Order: sequence, then structure tokens, then C-alpha cells
Amino acid sequence: MGSTRESLHGQWSSKWVFILAAAGSAVGLGNIWRFPYVTGENGGGAFVLVYLVCIFLIGIPVMIAELMIGRRGRRSPINAMRLLASEDGLSSGWTVIGYMGIFSGFLILSFYSVVAGWSLAYISYSVSGDLASDLDSSRAVFEALTSSAPRLAFWHTLFMCLVIFVVSNGVTRGLERAVKILMPLLFVSLIAMVIYALLVGDAYKALTYLFYPDFSKLSLDALIVAVGQAFFSLSLGMGALMIYGSYLPQEVSIPSTSVIVGLVDSLVAILAGLAIFPIVFGYGLEVSEGPGLVFVSLAIAFANMPFGDIFGFVFFMLLSIAAWTSAISLLEPVVAWLIETKDWSRPKSSLLSGGIIWMMGLAALLSFNEWSEFAPFGKNIFDWAEFVSTSVLLPAGGLLISIFVGWRLSMFTLSEELNGLRSSLYKAWYVLVKYLAPLGVTLVFIESSGLRGVILGFFAS
Ligand code: TRP
Repeated sequence: MGSTRESLHGQWSSKWVFILAAAGSAVGLGNIWRFPYVTGENGGGAFVLVYLVCIFLIGIPVMIAELMIGRRGRRSPINAMRLLASEDGLSSGWTVIGYMGIFSGFLILSFYSVVAGWSLAYISYSVSGDLASDLDSSRAVFEALTSSAPRLAFWHTLFMCLVIFVVSNGVTRGLERAVKILMPLLFVSLIAMVIYALLVGDAYKALTYLFYPDFSKLSLDALIVAVGQAFFSLSLGMGALMIYGSYLPQEVSIPSTSVIVGLVDSLVAILAGLAIFPIVFGYGLEVSEGPGLVFVSLAIAFANMPFGDIFGFVFFMLLSIAAWTSAISLLEPVVAWLIETKDWSRPKSSLLSGGIIWMMGLAALLSFNEWSEFAPFGKNIFDWAEFVSTSVLLPAGGLLISIFVGWRLSMFTLSEELNGLRSSLYKAWYVLVKYLAPLGVTLVFIESSGLRGVILGFFAS
């Protein structure tokens, strides 16, 4: 049965390589760029707390579910869902999880690549000594970049080429070598940044801001942002970890690796917050600066520290690489699916799907300049791509995955993939995927979409 099935696209060579690859997918711009800026926009400590609760009570259980589906099916998300549904006699309608995932992957990568391009651009600024040491000039540097469509397009194109290159070569071969050295390096340099920021910035304000939960600052909308950010940061809800799970050796324990990946991912996000907020408060930046927050604040830190150019160079290199190892996992599900169903070669599949995403990315980057006026309902194209994918599609994908695994999949399948169902840890997981994850995500959807008023009104009348 499932345990003897082989992946069509290769396998990770060991448990640790898989953990590095999954952590490589999870740790990326979501932790270092997005986490600090959405925390800043949503009031700080209370948001951080809700976010961490989402990671541990919803994210990690869904991660286990997603990896399990992938390893059981041993193929692309769409075909894995089809196979598992048919083995357990369920509707083939469940493949919608796979199709939705491909769509969200396209949307996410289109704006992700633009931001990764900023990081590449900042590598070049560190080399040319263009990082500015005060707030106004640092903002000006960032705006000079984002207001120039050709510059953004250049860096975005370069980044997409890097992603297509690795995926063309096969993820298990292409990625393994890179993540082994680079992930640990990123971690070390982040810790150095934290120490520097706490020493020169406003450590007290930053720590209070990040860790003192002031619930009066937590809006209902922030709840869905927190759930979305948890899914985004853990790479959940679109099949990225499903495809990585399909390359997972059978003897590796899915729950223990998921806990490790979840811990590493949250730790990196918190470290990023600790590296950035002391600088933000120390130099008088607005916490709600938006997507530019990390670039503007870190550039100031690098421009002021001794050997800052070298440090900045290393840091933006590592950030770009972290973005790269994440972006790969966004492209892999669709590429695996094209290889399986269309029988195309891996390079052809990567180039075609990557090419479409590259074009979508052009639309995203134009919304910072030429098309900035075009903003239906107050959001430009970039904002819409980010909002729809992160706050709608990923939580919806996670919801469907948890319902599928918690309510539809047979005990036999669960027990084979999780090596027995007796431990109390297993029982805790089962309760979380079966009840808490679907309920939590649904409630948050209802709350933040304003449906609550409608429903209450209905019962009151
Ligand atoms: N988790 C990555 C980050 O934090 C982004 C990412 C990679 C992702 N693969 C994903 C997000 C799949 C959602 C779904 O930067």
C-alpha cells in the first residue's frame, strides 16, 4: 500500500536534510520582512501572542496533516489528493485543495519575487556604500528603488531566474547542498543583528512593544491577519509542504519534524522582530511603516555600525537566499503536477509556469509606480495579491486540509502514516486538526469578514 509507493521525483537523503529543506521553505521573507511589518500594523504584543498561539495550535497540526497527505500520495498535491480520496472512497472534489494551492502559489510567488528583488537590490547597495544612515535618506533610498519600474523589474527577473534554475534541476538535488550551510549561517547573523540592535537601539521600548500584550490594540481584522501570517510563515495551505512531504522517507516521524520546523520558524520571526524594533524605536521610524519597514530600518543600522557594509552585504545575501529556498517550494507543486500530467520535462515545466508568474510579478511591481493610482477598494495589485493569497486562500486551504484529514481520511491511513495511534501526543494532534483548526479558522473568517453581524442579526430577528 502507501508505504511501498515511491515518489516520481526523487527523495530527501535523510531526516535532517528534510528538516533543513522544510525549514528552508518556512524561513524566508515571511519571517524577516512580513512578520515585523504586520506586527507593526496590528499593534505589537497582543498580535504576537495570537500569532504564536496560531502557530502551535493550528499551524503545526495542519503541517502534520499536509506532510502526511504528501507522503501518502507520493505525488503532486492535485494527484495526491485524487489518489487518497479514491483509496478511501471519497469524492474526487477534494482535488480542489490541489488546484486552489496552485493558484495561491502563483499569486504568492508573484509578489514574493518582487520583495526578494528588493533584498537583491540591497546587496548591491551594501557593496556600493549606498545604505543611508538617517531616517529620511534611508526612506529616500527605498522610494528611489520602488518608484523605478525598470529597476524593480531587473531584480525581480533575476530572482525568478534563480528560482526557475533550481526547480529545473530538481528540488531534492538542487536544494540539499544549499540549505545545509546557509540556514545555520542566517541564524548566526540574525543573532548578531539582535545583539547590535539591542545595544544601540531602544531595547526597552522594543521589548515592551513585542512582548507586552495590550489587547485593546487587537482588532478583529488582526485575527485573520495572524492566522494568515501563521500559514504563510509555515508555508501551509497551498501544497508546498505536501510536495516536500512526498519526497520524505517513510521511516521519518512526521510529528517530531513538524514541531522542530515550527519552533525554528517562530524563533526566526521573533529574532527578526528583536533585530528590527529596537532600531525602529531608536531612530524614530513609524511601526506602521508598511512593507518597507525592514529595509528602511536595517539599512540605517548597517550604515551606522562598524563594518556595516560587510555586515549588510552578508545579511542581505542570506535574506535573499532564505527567500530563494522558500520561493522554490512555491513553484515545485505546479511543476511536479505538470510533469506528472502533461508529461513535460522538468525544465520545460519550470520555465513555463515560472514565466507566467514572472509576468504576474510585473503587474505587482508596477503597482509601486506606474499603476499606483489603480487601487480598487483601497488596495493596489500588489496588496490584493498579498491579501487574497495570505488572508483568504491559505486559511481556506488549511481549513479544507484539516477537514479532509480530521473527518474524511480513514483511521487505517492515519495509523500507517503516523506509525500508530496510541500515544497521547497523537490524540492531542487529532483533536486539534479535527476540531480546533477548522473551528478556529472558520470563526476567524466569520469575525473578520463582518459575517458575525449578519449571523447575529439573523438569529435576533
Ligand atoms: N514560508 C515562506 C516565508 O515565510 C513563504 C512560503 C514558501 C510560502 N512556501 C510557501 C507561503 C507556501 C505559503 C505557502 O517566507
